[in-house]
Amino acid sequence: MKTYQGVIARYRKYLPVTKDTPLVSLQEGNTPLIYASKISARLGPKFKVYLKYEGLNPTGSFKDRGMTLAISKAKEEGVKSVICASTGNTSASAAAYAAKAGLKCIVVIPKGAIALGKLAQALVHKAKVIAVKGNFDDALRLVREISANYPVRLVNSINPHRIEGQKTASFEICDFLGTAPDFHLLPVGNAGNITACWKGYKEYFSCKKITHLPCMLGFQAKGAAPIVKGYPFKNPKTIATAIRIGNPASWEEALSAKEESKGLIDAVSDSQILSAYKLLAEEEGVFVEPASAASVAGLLMLNKRGFFGKIRSKNEKKNIVCTLTGHGLKDPQVAIKAVSSPPVIEAKTEAVAKAAGI
Ligand code: F0G
Repeated sequence: MKTYQGVIARYRKYLPVTKDTPLVSLQEGNTPLIYASKISARLGPKFKVYLKYEGLNPTGSFKDRGMTLAISKAKEEGVKSVICASTGNTSASAAAYAAKAGLKCIVVIPKGAIALGKLAQALVHKAKVIAVKGNFDDALRLVREISANYPVRLVNSINPHRIEGQKTASFEICDFLGTAPDFHLLPVGNAGNITACWKGYKEYFSCKKITHLPCMLGFQAKGAAPIVKGYPFKNPKTIATAIRIGNPASWEEALSAKEESKGLIDAVSDSQILSAYKLLAEEEGVFVEPASAASVAGLLMLNKRGFFGKIRSKNEKKNIVCTLTGHGLKDPQVAIKAVSSPPVIEAKTEAVAKAAGI
């Protein structure tokens, strides 16, 4: 039996690898595309909404798709150390793949601003974790400078191999649906993922694997919405720490994805993010981290505005895909704050039955 071997093995003809590229994989990708019946019902009979649950990647986020390629190429080129700035997920992924490859990994994070689970991951995989007194944008500036001056490879999404690997999410979506979706919604932080997904669709289109391109709809958090506003945010703020970014590296590329696909990039508030977060958990059974819920928050916001009501479709239903970028277990602190704590009662049958309401 040939087991699944990750995104490089599956999509190697679309990726910059040769037979000499060592395959550093944790069997990332192949994530489920879950039909969201409750959310679909909110939009009405013309639409089918799917959730691309990237939280089920090996380190719990979509970053693994790009990291497998970035680390495999680093290994091929004889690199010994890798470095990244991160709001948490990139560092978790870099740390795990570097461990697998036997490379040293350095991660620079904004002090006190990354979710607990992600910090634990980087530390457990034995990365050299350095917290700086600044935000993600400061950390990214530092690692860009360091990688330009020291023998260490940058594995943020400025590294083109990251984008190449991440585009495989679009391939999987098209392969699963047998067509491209009509709309693809996703959270936007440093803007690498919207860039990568759009690239993937365009490549599948030019290889005639799909006959139309989706409309790309990206969502930033209101307090960290530089692309929406058109200027960098000096002091970005949002509960969704993964996308707390004031000056995205792939800003221009995200704008191109929006323009070429006739899509949009808009902002959702923290309270919209939290209600989508709860809706996903309570009604669809899918636990995501807050930033991931920005795609669904955006979907619900556009639906309220009548965006989907204007869409014409003859007989066929329109397919909508929301990327859910990271697992809910990454950020237990937000999860616990978002819900009420359980009652503590006597260890007696009647007391438990009463408290359970049965
Ligand atoms: N969702 C999650 C869970 C993320 O971790 C990120 C980015 C995004 C969305 C946004 O994706 O940057 O490609 O637009 N996290 C990066 C990190 C910045 O350091 O882990 P993007």
